[in-house]
Amino acid sequence: MSPGHSPAATRPRLLDPDRLDAWLRRMPKTALHVHLEGTLEPELAFTLAERNAIEPGSPAFPYADLAALRAAYRFADLGAFLDVYYAACGVLRTADDFHDLARAYGDRVRAEGIRRAELFFDPQTHTRRGVGLSTVVRGLWSGLADARAHGVDVALIACFLRDAPVGHADDPAAADAGFTDPAQATAWATLRQVLEYNQRAPADESILGVGLDSYETPYPPELFAAVFARARAAGLRCTAHAGEEGPPAYIRAAIDTLGVSRIDHGVRCTEDAALLERLAAVHDTPTVVADFGEPHAIPLTVCPRSNYALKVFPDPARSNLLTLLRAGVQVCVNSDDPAYFGGYALENYRAVVDWLDPSFEELRQLARNGVHASWMPPAAKTTLLAEIDAWFAASP
Ligand code: ADE
Ligand code: ZN
Repeated sequence: MSPGHSPAATRPRLLDPDRLDAWLRRMPKTALHVHLEGTLEPELAFTLAERNAIEPGSPAFPYADLAALRAAYRFADLGAFLDVYYAACGVLRTADDFHDLARAYGDRVRAEGIRRAELFFDPQTHTRRGVGLSTVVRGLWSGLADARAHGVDVALIACFLRDAPVGHADDPAAADAGFTDPAQATAWATLRQVLEYNQRAPADESILGVGLDSYETPYPPELFAAVFARARAAGLRCTAHAGEEGPPAYIRAAIDTLGVSRIDHGVRCTEDAALLERLAAVHDTPTVVADFGEPHAIPLTVCPRSNYALKVFPDPARSNLLTLLRAGVQVCVNSDDPAYFGGYALENYRAVVDWLDPSFEELRQLARNGVHASWMPPAAKTTLLAEIDAWFAASP
């Protein structure tokens, strides 16, 4: 075991359960893997349904009441979860709805010591229902304004749905107003909408990058290679969900064919020793250097409670987060879909402590990795790393 990796010996007194939550909540941290649609709490879903005159229990929102929605929160796997997640998204219709969703999450972010949040949203989940991309993004940014005004640094990442049609590079550019044609909800059309949105948006309300999510198998990353190449050429940062349920080959393909600089989940990489080594190594490819500003490892944004809720690991103590950390992989702690998986940043850090028993130094490393893995400018990273170090140094 390397220095700093002896769990109990370095455990500080403050990690007694009574003080742990307050300490973890205030710890400076990042959130790099949160789906804004996955922050939709059941109560807000019903409020929005009522506001939009959507009948609970109808096909547009197939849950008769709060109890029925909560009862649906037992997931056999990723697919079973996504079925509920997409059904609940039916209540999100107007810019005000997206504002309220993002405002509720922004309030959490402020309360949880998050300094930098790189947030996913799924344009096609909404455009295929006739809700235009600019309605979604305008609402999200206005909902996030309060958190930003209080110093939280926020970026948005638009994810393509891997099970939706890829389409063609010459798909018509969708005019955002009156956008109703589901055929315009392909990955290619979505990329066009993102680029058009960015051309018109104020610089501080643009979309920073693209991702890839939704049902993982049987949709290998290479289906999206040309879309990602175009996104990359347009200056967007690139990440992808891979190796959550899908095989290690999907992680390799995301790196090799999509040119991503980060992997979301990626936990199945431990099944492939060469891949594990490759993730930990510093990459000097143009795509990695473009996203991080320097040669860099390929980080994994790991989501402990999500992995447990979706049965990626049958038993929480079997999470491989610390195995990855000890193998030199740049793993960080995230919440994925916090309204569905039992909690936000705090609950995920708390799960790591309770389930995996990391050392104090390992906890510090996980928090620091969130900064290394982010796409913040280098100077901002240096500042946040110093803040994290000071926080740990000042802890008894
Ligand atoms: N969309 C929302 N959450 C997701 C997850 N955990 N995996 C893939 N797609 C998602
Ligand atoms: Zn995710």
